[in-house]
Amino acid sequence: MNCKTLDKNSQDEVTNLFTSVFTSSEGEKEGKLIGNLVSELSSGIDNQNIICFGTYVEKSIIGSIFFSRLQFKEAIQVYMLAPVAINTEHQGKGVGQALINHGLNELKNRSVAVAITYGDPSFYSKVGFQALSENVIQAPIKLSMPEGWLGQSLTGEPIPTINERPICVKEFNDPAYW
Ligand SMILES: CC(C)(COP(=O)(O)OP(=O)(O)OC[C@H]1O[C@@H](n2cnc3c(N)ncnc32)[C@H](O)[C@@H]1OP(=O)(O)O)[C@@H](O)C(=O)NCCC(=O)NCCS
Repeated sequence: MNCKTLDKNSQDEVTNLFTSVFTSSEGEKEGKLIGNLVSELSSGIDNQNIICFGTYVEKSIIGSIFFSRLQFKEAIQVYMLAPVAINTEHQGKGVGQALINHGLNELKNRSVAVAITYGDPSFYSKVGFQALSENVIQAPIKLSMPEGWLGQSLTGEPIPTINERPICVKEFNDPAYW
């Protein structure tokens, strides 16, 4: 099993992975929604504003994660982890946590200050995320589940308060994802 940094050439395999994983776990409608998001995100991978990692067993992709930049006027590097999918047959074996930790280490090596995600606190707390108040860092779009807004500092310092609303990459500019 190994983790790789992916580029645009992985668009089809990554899109198929997310579509099938989310169709199995959340149903056909959500599978299509996340599949479309991932198709757009993966065609925009530039390893800067949109970063993607995959876990492979031999030549098959079994998991993938995206990080995308949240842009502030202030000079601080903040990335959002979303979405994440592990092949249904490989879930519950530590693959998701290992891939997320790999991605967070890559961000630390790039001197990123804060990682954010939006999801189930009971899973993401296992990889260091904690509830994040929008008084500290606002979401780019109105959240339907503010309790799922989570963050972690990658510097060892507390997460700094940023008094402006960030801009997300255009692929996330749809309230359906929030
Ligand atoms: C959620 C997901 C990414 C986790 O990856 P994974 O490789 O299965 O998880 P790991 O084996 O690394 O970690 C397992 C732990 O996370 C917990 N966990 C797994 N999926 C969970 C979920 N959907 N919600 C809450 N906790 C979850 C397990 O209870 C387990 O905890 P334990 O070790 O205390 O028993 C994966 O199951 C998946 O792709 N699910 C479907 C898509 C999805 O929900 N993506 C996340 C939202 S973007």
